[in-house]
Parts: sequence; C-alpha cells; structure tokens
Amino acid sequence: MDEPRPLPRPPWRDQLGHLRRIFQTPHVVLDDLSAEYGPVCGLGAGPARMAIVGDPEALRELFAMPNASFRWNHKFNVLGFVVGKQSMIVSDGEEHRRRRSSVQTAFSRRRLNGWIPMIVEQTDAAIDRLTAQLEPGVIVDMYPAGRALVLRIVVRSLFGERMSQRCDEIGDLFQRPQDYLESSAFRQFPHPFPHTARARVRADRQALDAIIDAEIADRRAHPTGDPLDVLETLIVDGSLSDAEIRDQVATLIGAGYDTTSASLAWMLIRATREPGLWTRLRAEADRVLGSAADTDATPDASTLAQLDLANRVMRETVRLHPAGVLSPREAAVDVTLGGYLIPTGTLILWSAHLAGRNAAAWPDPMQFDPDRFVELDDDRRALADMAWVPFGRGARNCIGFALAQMELTLIVARLAQRLDLDPVSSEIPSPVGMVVNRPVGGAPMYVRPRGDADTNTPTGSGHGTVGPAGR
Ligand code: HEM
Repeated sequence: MDEPRPLPRPPWRDQLGHLRRIFQTPHVVLDDLSAEYGPVCGLGAGPARMAIVGDPEALRELFAMPNASFRWNHKFNVLGFVVGKQSMIVSDGEEHRRRRSSVQTAFSRRRLNGWIPMIVEQTDAAIDRLTAQLEPGVIVDMYPAGRALVLRIVVRSLFGERMSQRCDEIGDLFQRPQDYLESSAFRQFPHPFPHTARARVRADRQALDAIIDAEIADRRAHPTGDPLDVLETLIVDGSLSDAEIRDQVATLIGAGYDTTSASLAWMLIRATREPGLWTRLRAEADRVLGSAADTDATPDASTLAQLDLANRVMRETVRLHPAGVLSPREAAVDVTLGGYLIPTGTLILWSAHLAGRNAAAWPDPMQFDPDRFVELDDDRRALADMAWVPFGRGARNCIGFALAQMELTLIVARLAQRLDLDPVSSEIPSPVGMVVNRPVGGAPMYVRPRGDADTNTPTGSGHGTVGPAGR
C-alpha cells in the first residue's frame, strides 16, 4: 500500500484570510479550496489545524471508521453550552453509546410511522392559520411560517399534545441560543460575566431546563401512556438520569428544529422556481393524499412511500443545500482519508456541501433536477449513494434523519395540494450560516389558497410582508 501523503494546503500568506472567512461564508471557502487544492485539503496549523474532507470516496472511508478514531468533545465544539454538557452530540465513548442508544429506542420505525397523521394535521393547521391572515398582494416569508410548523411537529413528537401548547415559549427560548451559535468565535469565548450575550443565553437555557424538568417530574408522577411520546419513552427506558434526559431533549429540539426548517425554506424556494414542478407535486399529492378538501383521510406509511416525487424534491434540495455545510469531529488517532494522512488532533471538517456538488458523482451538479434519481444504473446509484450525505452516515449519523425526511416530504406535498406559491424573485438566494445553512432573506412568496387565482395577485411595488425576513 502507498504511504499516505501530506494534505495539500494553501500557502501561508493565504491561510489567515481563509480561516477568517470559513466561519462567515463557509460554502465560499469550501468551494474555493476544493477547486484549487482538491476535495481533501488542509488549513490552519498547530492547535487550529484542520482538514476539509468533501470527496465522496474519502467520506465513505471516514464513516466506516470506528467512533473511537474521533472525538466530538473537543475544544472547538461550542454546542455543549447550548444543548448541555451531557448531550450525546458532545459525548464520546461509552457515555455517547448509552445516551444515543436510549434516544434511538424512542425513534423506532413504529413510532415514526405513528407520527405521520400528526405531521399532516399540523401542516393543515399551519395552512389554515396562514390563509386566515392572507391579504391580497402581501408577500409572505415562508421561512418563519415553516419554522413555526416544524417546531410544533418536533415539540409534539417529543413531548406529546399537552406541551405543544407551549411551543411559542419554547421557540422563543431557543432563538437567542441559536443566534449565539452563529455569532463569531470571539463572542462565544467562555466567560462567567453577567449582562452579556453569553449570560442571556445561559438564562434562556435555564428557563428551558425548568420547563423540561417540570415535565419530567410530572410524567414520573402521572404517566400519560402515550406510546408516541419520546420523553415518556426515555423515562420508561430507565438508562439515563433526569439530567441526561433533559440534555437529550434540548439536543433533539436544537438539532431538529433549525435544520429541518432551513431545509424546508430551501425546498420551497427550489420547488417553486422550477417550471411545472409545483403542478407535478400537486398532481402526485392529489393522487396519493386524496382531494385537498378531504382532510379526514388518515395518511400512513404506505401513503408516504407513494409520495415519490415529493421525496425526490426533498433529496435533491438537501443534496444542494444540506443544513450542515460542514460538520466537525477531531481525529483521536492518525487517520488516512483519500490517501492523505490526517494527524491526531486535527479538526476534521467533513462537508456534505462539497460531496453533494461533486462533479464525478453528479452529472451537471449545479442543476436542480429531482428526476436525476430515477432509473439510475447500478454504478450511478452507488456513486449517488456515496455522495449524498446531508445526514452523515455510520455510527454518528443523524438520529432524526427519518423524521426530518418524512416531515419535509409530507409538508411539501400538502403545501402543493393546498396553496399556490409564487416566488418573489427567480434568483436562488445565497446561503448564510455556519451551524445551519439558511437562505439569505428567507423564502418570500406570493401565497394564495389553491385555485383562488384572482385574489392576492402580485401588483408590483408597495407589497407588505408577513413575518420577519429570513435570519
Ligand atoms: C434536514 C434536517 C437535518 C439534517 C440535515 C441533519 C443533519 C445532521 C448531521 C450532518 C449530523 C452530524 C453527523 C456527524 O457528525 O457525523 C446530525 C446529527 C444529529 N442529528 Fe440531525 N439533522 C437533521 C434533523 C434532525 C432531527 C429532526 C433530529 C431529531 C429530532 C436530529 C437529531 C440529531 C442528533 C441527536 C444528532 C447527533 C447524533 C450523535 O451525536 O450521535 N437531526 N444531524
């Protein structure tokens, strides 16, 4: 076997600029570095030594390695401050295994399928709320509208019906911590000082803890017996302490809310800009979900399986716009990826963004084409499979991958069935966000109830806007 080679890297004079920009516009730096040095390359030095890994074959190697080859509880992992030090996301070894496997029990296929009617129900309720407020010619930002819907679905699946009454409160308590995670590394430097952004985030997290703790205590005293409720499943499972349960719950809200709602915004942007695609989605949804007026039909796993086009639109969206442009882990031992040596202590930034745009794996990679997944031959399918990694792979893959895909597929199908959406601009917005990749300016659209073509027609200048612009 050939000796592993050192990572190609930019000359020293360019390093500082790349390092500064990678936390502001990560997708631009990744594209630039990959074009010049290849999809596996190095950046930084000493304790800030990094390796960017975006080559699909190298990623296949990475995901096949044992967890012990890497550390997630490393000095650059800032998530622990928001989701808690006992979260599986910042745990390693036996602690990670125990915490993850307890949560995994709660995400069984049976439970996931049980959430399908609730997801459609919540989508219908969100559409009803939206259409009740519509005014002719007003632009609606579908990003915050989608965020509110996704939060309701996540809270409902985690805590059951009763807690979903407190969704807005939970969403508010999560806003500041999530904004903080997107702020500069300098602002996130650990310190105990009061009256600072960090102190306010700490207070929000304490308030969220109080809500979760009260709910845990209440469930212990009065179990609801709801078989679909994740919190109660974690309590009954018995392998985690209450403090550990609390941090896993905060993690699930944190990891499941912003990621899925940013993906939903990208999906609506893409699905409404491709000529004829919204109509095709609508035809499929009418056939599979029944008529738009028939909101009593109960969808199930077979309904979801038939939403083939909606599923491909979701897959194509997260190929081009993965919620995590890059995901970090630290090498706990020397590892070789794509023939390159990555020494112990290197921060590995693996990139679903680069893999999803890899020209060898995806013909015409920048083209949004949900039909690219149809009738692939075996070689193409294997390549596409290896290069489609928005949820990661292997023992640390996303625990919510099935829930997120299910939500996005069902939501886009139902929206296509019940709403006419027209984008305000034909441009695809730029991405923003280091932790979660969101569209700059949100997803502003002209929204009408289906077929109600003459009310709410765009009239040029002077439109109002519903909802804050995308953050
Ligand atoms: C479109 C939506 C989502 C995307 C793109 C996404 C993506 C990811 C990625 C890339 C990872 C890291 C894998 C790694 O480091 O190797 C991850 C981890 C994780 N995700 Fe997601 N995720 C999404 C939605 C969700 C949802 C809905 C939940 C739960 C409700 C969730 C819970 C988690 C958890 C708990 C982990 C940590 C797993 C571990 O450390 O073992 N995610 N996700």
